[in-house]
This record gives sequence, structure tokens and C-alpha cells, in this order.
Amino acid sequence: MRTKALNGHSGCKVLLCENDARVFVRKISSSRDYNTRLQTQVNKQAHFESRFVNAPRIINSGITDDGLYYFDMEYIRGVTLAEYMHRIEIGKIRGIVSELMSHISEVNRKSGPDRTDMFLSKINALRQSLSLWMTVIPGADMQVINRTLAVLEAHSWKNFTQSSCHGDLTLENIIVRDGELYFIDFLDSFYDCWLLDISTLLQDVYTMWAYRDWNAIDINTQIRLAVFRDILVDEICGIDGGMWIIEAFYALLLKLLRIYPYTRDEKTIRFLNAKLTEVLLLLEKGDFMPCER
Ligand SMILES: Nc1ncnc2c1ncn2[C@@H]1O[C@H](COP(=O)(O)OP(=O)(O)O)[C@@H](O)[C@H]1O
Ligand SMILES: [Mg+2]
Repeated sequence: MRTKALNGHSGCKVLLCENDARVFVRKISSSRDYNTRLQTQVNKQAHFESRFVNAPRIINSGITDDGLYYFDMEYIRGVTLAEYMHRIEIGKIRGIVSELMSHISEVNRKSGPDRTDMFLSKINALRQSLSLWMTVIPGADMQVINRTLAVLEAHSWKNFTQSSCHGDLTLENIIVRDGELYFIDFLDSFYDCWLLDISTLLQDVYTMWAYRDWNAIDINTQIRLAVFRDILVDEICGIDGGMWIIEAFYALLLKLLRIYPYTRDEKTIRFLNAKLTEVLLLLEKGDFMPCER
């Protein structure tokens, strides 16, 4: 079997494979401890349903000789939406955002129990891991972190009812092929709620998280991301009289804060400090059209 490595962030091995002229992608767990998590992610992908977006078909799964869980899936010969944002025709951005939002608003917004307690215990655990982390890693803006924790603790999370959700809907986990969208890299997140997917999209278009490793984001991409962001915010504001946009920004705040304990490098810490400050300001002002970068 011929293979070629594809790059991701999770530490799992992702290989483009060719066997007897059959081409597929194999994803192999990063460790035995991660096996069950990857299995849960595959289940999410296998059961994914949407009228608007697709997910690669699961072909096979098994255990390697090293005891690592793996699965094979259909290869989507396209580009990630993160890459596509360099060169997409500006007029096509609205169509992509609409497809994503049609999917997200169709599967979600069902009523359900208030899970504020679960969010508060998550935030409490985060407070503890942050205080440990800050003693070893320098550079965090403690003032902004403490303010964020206070804002998150004071928030009611009752609108975050459970619903189907991708779990890590960054532009890097969406493939575009012939104008069709495919979700890959489903995540077993701590909680499934459509607002968390929206906040991951906001994380990319507001904070440009998916592009953090790039030295400089070219002007073409910046313009396209700004157009994407404005259309996305408009679409979110258009649902149910605009009540969800604030919630999506609270979720973004939580999302950014949760990155710190995994962060070691100074550049990302500075990035997080700056972005948290911006999002706090947006929430304070209640004006969700973006700050100047
Ligand atoms: N089914 C697929 N078809 C085509 N490319 C894929 C497929 N699955 C993954 N890739 C490519 O491999 C990269 C890493 O895969 P991903 O599952 O996102 O790994 P990670 O969990 O490490 O982020 C993706 O960004 C994409 O470019
Ligand atoms: Mg990925």
C-alpha cells in the first residue's frame, strides 16, 4: 500500500492511501489511550446527516499491530475551506456561509434542559487548571483571564440546549469539492450544542485562529475572511430576532480561555491575551461588528 502523510493538529496520523488503485484516507489514533475517543468521533461522522453538507463515508476500521485504533474513509479530492479562503471568488462566500448556516439552523435550536450547572463546573475546572498552568508558564494576562472567568461564571447558559454538533468546526475541518462542503475531523467535545459550532466559526473569522501558524496572512485572505465574518454575523443576527449572537460570543470567550492550558509558546499566549481582550470588549459594548485588527 502506498501512503502519503496529510497534516493535522490532533497528533493522530492521517494518511492518504492507495491500495490496488483504491484511494482512501486512514486516520490512526495518536495513542492507545486515545482509541476510544477516536472511535466516538468516527461514530459521530458515520451518523452525520444533513441536507446541506456531507461527511466522508466510513469504509473500514480496525486495530493496528501496535494496538492503535484506525479507520478508513472516503478521500475527498478538494481543499480545506481555510485554504480556499485565499482564492475563493468573493461572490461565492455568501453561498458557503448560507449552506453552513442552513445546516446548523436545521439540526438545532430545539428546547431542552438548562445545563448551566454543567457549564459552571467546566468553568470551575478550567479556573483550577489555569491557576496551575500560570505558575509554570509565563506571559498570560492574569487580569484579562480573571475578568473572563468572572464574566463566564456570571452568565446563564440556559440557552445552550443540547443538539447535534460537529465539535470542532474550524475552516480547517471543512473540505470544499466542486462547491460542496464536507465536514471531517468530528470531535467528541465536552458538550454538543450548535452554538459551540458557531463559536468555532467565529473563532476563525474574528480571531483568525486557523491562520495562527502562518507568518503573515495575505491581503486576499484577510478581505475574504472579513466578508465571510460580516455575512456570518448577519446570518446569526437574522435567527430568532438576533438573540443568538451574544450567546455565540460567550461561547467564543469560553473557547479561547480553554486553549490556554494547552499552550506553551509565547506567541500563542500573546495572541490569546489580545483576542480575549477584544471579545470581552465586544460583549461589553454589545456591538458585534468587529473591532479593528
Ligand atoms: N477524508 C478526507 N479527504 C481528504 N482530505 C482529508 C480527509 N481527512 C483528512 N484530510 C486532510 O488531512 C488533514 C488532517 O486531517 P484531520 O482529520 O483534520 O486531522 P487532525 O485531527 O489531526 O486535525 C485535513 O486538514 C485534510 O487536509
Ligand atoms: Mg483537523
